Amino acid sequence: MSKQRVRKAVIPAAGLGTRFLPATKAQPKEMIPIIDVPMIQLIVEEAVRSGIEDVILVTARHKESIENHFDHAYELEDTLDRRAKKELADVSRSLANLCNLISVRQKHPLGLGHAVLCAAQAVGDEPFAVLLGDDLIDSEVPCTRQLIDVFQERGASVVGVMEVPHAEVSKYGIVGGRMEGDRLMAVDRLVEKPSPGEAPSQLAIPGRYVLDPAIFQCLRETPAGRGGEIQLTDGLQILAKRKGMYAYRFDGVRYDTGDRVGFIDATLAYALKRPDLAGPVKELMRKHLGGGR
Ligand code: UTP
Repeated sequence: MSKQRVRKAVIPAAGLGTRFLPATKAQPKEMIPIIDVPMIQLIVEEAVRSGIEDVILVTARHKESIENHFDHAYELEDTLDRRAKKELADVSRSLANLCNLISVRQKHPLGLGHAVLCAAQAVGDEPFAVLLGDDLIDSEVPCTRQLIDVFQERGASVVGVMEVPHAEVSKYGIVGGRMEGDRLMAVDRLVEKPSPGEAPSQLAIPGRYVLDPAIFQCLRETPAGRGGEIQLTDGLQILAKRKGMYAYRFDGVRYDTGDRVGFIDATLAYALKRPDLAGPVKELMRKHLGGGR
């Protein structure tokens, strides 16, 4: 049983975002909005709703707009105040007060494992969450909160997993081990992008973790693969052997916003959930599908 609080979250945001070129040529992928909210804000909000206090953002060159988004924009706020648009000014101010944001640089894009390792000093010797910005998870209880609850009950690292079709296992990191009930698995192996024949299960890791700080030593020992990249899954494999690990089939709908179709899916789903947009968006969909107005 580990009642150690999980106060910190690492959000790797130093990737090149090549799948979204040309949009990502001069702006970070993380700032692309789902309607009017940048993806990174939705991720930081999930962390904060999960009880996280310190967000450690792993960034790179040309990513300053992410930091600015979570700071004051005095000119804008002042102008909005003077134009009696206090509500909008407050939206800007509330972002500056959302959490304590710590930013570290990954100087070369050497993989997700390397990005997490860049946060070692800022995390220190305490458990922490990792949230990837490419995965939006819509759920009543935030996905990261669900994983923190399991971490505190079981006292070992937890990776969030979801069931994927057999034919799609090769797109993900897949966990193998022994099921303990309907949602929890004691993990004994992780395989990155296995062929359907090699996959130990159909439980895939989309991008939510709560990790023991021993992961940093595991990542230091992880050999670099193709292109000098250090894979997080390889480090997790060492961690699972050394300290134990659970996988938790979280409750929620996941959108792969790193992919163009997944991004459109998320945009439509979020629009249809918004009272101000649902009606007009349904009308537009009818129009485009040829049903007339
Ligand atoms: P992706 O594999 O999606 O890479 O990284 P990417 O660069 O963001 O996007 P594509 O594939 O080129 O379109 C998954 C997450 O890991 C971060 C990314 O920012 C993203 O949040 N990442 C990846 C790093 O922070 N550093 C890296 O070296 C690689």
